[in-house]
Amino acid sequence: MIIFAIETSCDETAAAVVRDGREVLSSELFSQADMHAMYGGVVPEIASRNHVGHIGRLAEMAVKNAGIAKNDIDAVAVTYAPGLIGALLVGVNFAKGLAMALGVPLVPVHHIRGHIAANYIAYPDLEPPFLCTVVSGGNSIIADVRGYTDICIIGRSRDDAAGECFDKAARVLGLGYPGGPALDKLAQGGNDSLFALPRPVIDGAPYDMSFSGLKTSVVNIVHNAEQRGETQSDKALTDKASPNKAPQDKEPGKASRNIELIDKASLAASFSAAVSDILVPRVMAAAAEFDREKIAIAGGVAANSRIRADFLRTAEAAGRTLFIPPLNLCGDNAAMIGCQGYYEYLAGARAGMDLNAYATMDVSG
Ligand code: KG4
Repeated sequence: MIIFAIETSCDETAAAVVRDGREVLSSELFSQADMHAMYGGVVPEIASRNHVGHIGRLAEMAVKNAGIAKNDIDAVAVTYAPGLIGALLVGVNFAKGLAMALGVPLVPVHHIRGHIAANYIAYPDLEPPFLCTVVSGGNSIIADVRGYTDICIIGRSRDDAAGECFDKAARVLGLGYPGGPALDKLAQGGNDSLFALPRPVIDGAPYDMSFSGLKTSVVNIVHNAEQRGETQSDKALTDKASPNKAPQDKEPGKASRNIELIDKASLAASFSAAVSDILVPRVMAAAAEFDREKIAIAGGVAANSRIRADFLRTAEAAGRTLFIPPLNLCGDNAAMIGCQGYYEYLAGARAGMDLNAYATMDVSG
């Protein structure tokens, strides 16, 4: 069965062709990251407009590179939730038009289920049940994957998603957007225990997580360093050039340069270690409690080298099998939607021409 898949939930426009859920015949992606970088984050309207501008081109490329004809397509799968509503609507409406023109079923796919399914592409023999954590820019969950379409959340972030936290920490460190990959790189040269950062515990909810306090700690460390640096800088200026110059006469923006006074690599490493310490032990404990021998990770943050290394080490020590998708399948893509779309189709999921998009939706469906 050949599924044509579309993904437009955030700032990646993607189209793919997948055979029988596991074989990716083509996977095309246009990342808008550069267009959002100057704003320090995704601007929803810009994302929607760029999806409109690129979806047709990517769809043509996906069909061409898969080596199929349009009438070989048996169903169209599309991400319909969760995500940026305007962005999702572009994909949903394109998918409706395509399904109608081809006379094939339209299959709605939950974005997080798609991330989990990235593991089925990377590991053709992987089958549920297994435990999976999905850590991305918009979501951080720990789920018990009981069947391809039977997914139960057992833990989630109570506030920010892990990726959102990486992006914010990277931003205050002056690393631009998206910050996760840059912060990961910077952390390589750092001391991961130089900064004492919080690892919050939520009473009565052992698998729930909280990342916002960690984010605030990093922001405070950087701001405090800037303020301390501002004083030193004023003193140096005063001593050298103008002994009577009052501190309030200093040039605007001078303080921000003093972020250089802190050990950014060690802050990045300490931050990455804290995120990993919040996530990895919870997933391992959940695997033990739910008696799952197989553990999978997914989502953009699953690309993080510290988190990957910690998962590898702890899973091996616990005698559990770890499934980690390659980097290109961690971030948003349409192949994972085509893969999950196949299992949703087998389970009977069909949408009509009234299919809507939803900014939020529980992965359990
Ligand atoms: O899954 P994804 O591409 O989009 C969503 O569905 O949200 O995840 C994007 C998130 C961003 O926050 C990005 O900074 C983060 O994943 N990310 C990383 C790394 N690569 C991407 N975070 C930490 N380390 C990385 N290497």
